[in-house]
Amino acid sequence: MPGKGTVSGLACVLAIANQKGGVGKTTTAINLAAAIALRKKKTLLIDLDPQSNASIAFFDAAEFQNSTYDIFSDHPIPLVDIIRPTKDPFLYVAPSRLALAKLEQQLAGQFDAPFKLKDALTPILHDYDYIVMDTPPALGIITVNALVSATHLLIPIQAAYFAIEGTDDLLETFGRIRSRPNPDLKILGVVITLFDKRTNISRDTHEQIRATFGDALFKTRISKNVRLEESPAYKETIFSFAPKSSGAEEYRKLALEVLQRVEEDRVTRHSQDAA
Ligand SMILES: Nc1ncnc2c1ncn2[C@@H]1O[C@H](COP(=O)(O)OP(=O)(O)O)[C@@H](O)[C@H]1O
Ligand SMILES: [Mg+2]
Repeated sequence: MPGKGTVSGLACVLAIANQKGGVGKTTTAINLAAAIALRKKKTLLIDLDPQSNASIAFFDAAEFQNSTYDIFSDHPIPLVDIIRPTKDPFLYVAPSRLALAKLEQQLAGQFDAPFKLKDALTPILHDYDYIVMDTPPALGIITVNALVSATHLLIPIQAAYFAIEGTDDLLETFGRIRSRPNPDLKILGVVITLFDKRTNISRDTHEQIRATFGDALFKTRISKNVRLEESPAYKETIFSFAPKSSGAEEYRKLALEVLQRVEEDRVTRHSQDAA
């Protein structure tokens, strides 16, 4: 069971979401969580995708019994019994299983369905500085649970044509969640992924994304880098696998921007509370 770290308050809970598949959600969740942990912030990565790509980047499925699926059952297993340590003493992972895919049907009609993850997180919010959640490529009940329990939303967008289409639905869901169950939810930022500076497509879409999201866009872009594709197969993050790669460099920079924005947001909220 993870002990208390350097934690000074309540965790920042970051949902990485975009209902499109293949846009770099999982790659961002893994390597952003790892980069934040490298800065000695106690970090928990929660895998909420039935595909388990983030989990498999750390453990073999045979290595763990409990998974995030067990959060949603009628007799939920506490998160502390699901969370596993990693090679990095500041990084912990709550792995997922394919069974999560059954949730949509299983939770249908349960009035508290959107709140199960939030309930599971409440007892551990003091134990971590950062909680990073990887979500499936859909706006179903799992992503809704992530948005209901998050403090911030981070949207990865692939530098490709039609990349922005579909974010309308995500932003609409965001708006609905903000209007009721989670009024404090904020968009922390939008990050461009799979960027290739040699192509017009990447440059055009960058402009389009900037025009659409303005200041929400992170300055750091994540370029295409084959090392990012390879590292999960070796059960490594980019920082142990290829620490000098552009992927490592860019995720380190993104983590700095994330930490800075969260800090600024805390100051703003604090002064609003005081006023
Ligand atoms: N910056 C990148 N450079 C190269 N390959 C990447 C990069 N980001 C993601 N990939 C690869 O693209 C595929 C989709 O990325 P992934 O993070 O799994 O997206 P999602 O979780 O949104 O489906 C994976 O094979 C991943 O390894
Ligand atoms: Mg994924």
